[in-house]
Amino acid sequence: MYHHVKKLMYTVKVDTPNVRFGNMLLEQFGGANGELAAAMQYTIQGWNCVDDLARRDLLLDIGTEELSHLEVVGALIRLHLKELKTNREAAEADPLVTIAGGGGVSLYNSQGNAWTADYLKITGELDVDLRSNIAAEARAKIVYERLLDHTDDPGTIDTLQFLMTREITHMKAFSAALESMEKPAFSIGFLNGGPGLSIGDIKGTEDQEARGKQDMGQKATTSPFAEALSQTMPSTNKPGSSNGEGHSNGSSKKAVAAKKK
Ligand SMILES: [Fe+2]
Repeated sequence: MYHHVKKLMYTVKVDTPNVRFGNMLLEQFGGANGELAAAMQYTIQGWNCVDDLARRDLLLDIGTEELSHLEVVGALIRLHLKELKTNREAAEADPLVTIAGGGGVSLYNSQGNAWTADYLKITGELDVDLRSNIAAEARAKIVYERLLDHTDDPGTIDTLQFLMTREITHMKAFSAALESMEKPAFSIGFLNGGPGLSIGDIKGTEDQEARGKQDMGQKATTSPFAEALSQTMPSTNKPGSSNGEGHSNGSSKKAVAAKKK
């Protein structure tokens, strides 16, 4: 079950709004590697993961946090797109958002393509899903990195760096969860490949019979990965204001300096 906490996970501030950059940010709202896709992928995987309660908790914890990231990105986008409502020249940067969306966010990517469940990778095989999630976090990280490369706005950089850092943390948590399953690196499913391509023939793999012996009978109700999840939370993190778009005295200068490194 979910509770609505009336504040943002991270305070959002934009010093100089830029409608074109707000449009680019939509990739992380309704795009293939965006926050909604991550939230839905991990949450649905978690609901399906009924035999491994510890890893189920991890999936649901991160899925829920991704939904909070969606809220943060949405607040950031709205601040950048504010001018669309009143400025004709700005409106031309994104007619879809201006005319159809009234200047607010909706589930489209930066090119106006609708969000789709086709973005999600959900196989029902936990180790395979964890691999997908590590890759998803890597993609989200690189998208944030590119967005950071295209803005000089200190407030925006501050928020994007927070979000990017959390993706790295999630990538580590999913990696830890996969490694703790202790499966040979190329042991996927139960069947071997064809002649000469069996799992045991692939350099670096171990006895595939070890495969599939984990996961059973786990009774944990709290995630042993919680510690990994809590790591690398930036010290600048402060809850947002109740209107969702409050001001931060955060680490913009630090963020800019880090960006230049
Ligand atoms: Fe995220």
